Amino acid sequence: MDFKDQVVIVTGAGRGIGEEIAVQFAKEGAKVVVASLHGQECDSTVKKIASAKGKAIAVPCDVSSARDVKSLFEKTLREFGRVDVLVNNAGIFPFVPFKDMVEEQWDRVIGVNLKSVFLCSKEAASVMVKQGRGGKIVNISSIASIVGYPMLTHYCASKGGINGFTRALALELAPSKIRVNAVLPGGVKTPGVGELDEKTLKGIESSVPLARMGEPIDIANAVLFLASDKSDYITGQTLVVDGGSTAKD
Ligand SMILES: NC(=O)c1ccc[n+]([C@@H]2O[C@H](COP(=O)([O-])OP(=O)(O)OC[C@H]3O[C@@H](n4cnc5c(N)ncnc54)[C@H](O)[C@@H]3O)[C@@H](O)[C@H]2O)c1
Repeated sequence: MDFKDQVVIVTGAGRGIGEEIAVQFAKEGAKVVVASLHGQECDSTVKKIASAKGKAIAVPCDVSSARDVKSLFEKTLREFGRVDVLVNNAGIFPFVPFKDMVEEQWDRVIGVNLKSVFLCSKEAASVMVKQGRGGKIVNISSIASIVGYPMLTHYCASKGGINGFTRALALELAPSKIRVNAVLPGGVKTPGVGELDEKTLKGIESSVPLARMGEPIDIANAVLFLASDKSDYITGQTLVVDGGSTAKD
C-alpha cells in the first residue's frame, strides 16, 4: 500500500492504536500529522517516525474543541498543503456506573469520541472537496457500538453514533469520491486499556475466539486498507476487527 507524499491526519496518535496507525502510514511514505491531547506524546510519536526516516509533525490539540480542530487543519495545510486521509481515532473510555454518571462525564465522552468526529470530518471534507481529488475518512469506532458493555453507556452511545455518522456521511460525500468507513476494534492492548484492572483484562482475553487480545497493528492494518486504493469500491461500511468476539452469540 503506497501512501507516498499523501497527507494523513491521525487524531489521538500520541499512543496506543493511533500511534501505530501514524507509524504505519509514515512507513508507507505518507506525511503524517500527529494530533493528540498532550504535546509530549505527540513529540514522542513524531520522534519514533523520524528515527525510521519518516515524515511527521506534532499538533497538540483537543479534538472536542472546534477552535483546536480549525487550527489543526490550518497548521496541516500550512505545513503540507493538502489533506488526503483523516483517521478519527482519539477516544476515551472511563468506566462509570450509570447510576453515578453525571452530565459532565456524559458530555466529555460524547465530546471527545463523537463530536470530534463531526468537527474533524467537517474540516477534512471541506478541504478534500476543494482539492477535487477525492479522499478517505476512517473512523475508529468499537465493538461497543454493536454489543453492550456495563458502565460504558456514554461510550457505547458515542461509538454507535460514529457508525450512523459514517454511513450517512459516506452517502453525502460519495459524489465527491470521498470514502468514509469505520473500523470496530475488539479489546486491543494499549496504554489506555492497560489502565483497566487485571480481572477485566483477563475477562476480555479469555472471551476472544482467536485466543488473544488485539494488537494495535491489527487495527492499523485495517485502517491502511480502508485508506488505500485496494478498497476503492468500499464506502459507508463498519469493519469489525475483534478476533471473532462478536461472531459468537
Ligand atoms: N484499546 C481498545 O481495546 C479499543 C477497543 C475498541 C475501540 N478502541 C478505540 O480506539 C481508539 C484509541 O484507543 P486506545 O486504546 O489506543 O486509547 P489510549 O488511551 O491508549 O490512547 C488514546 C489517545 O487519544 C488521545 N486523546 C484523548 N483525548 C483526546 C482529545 N480530547 N483530543 C486529542 N487526543 C485525545 C490520548 O492523549 C491518547 O494519545 C479510541 O477511539 C478507542 O475508543 C479501543
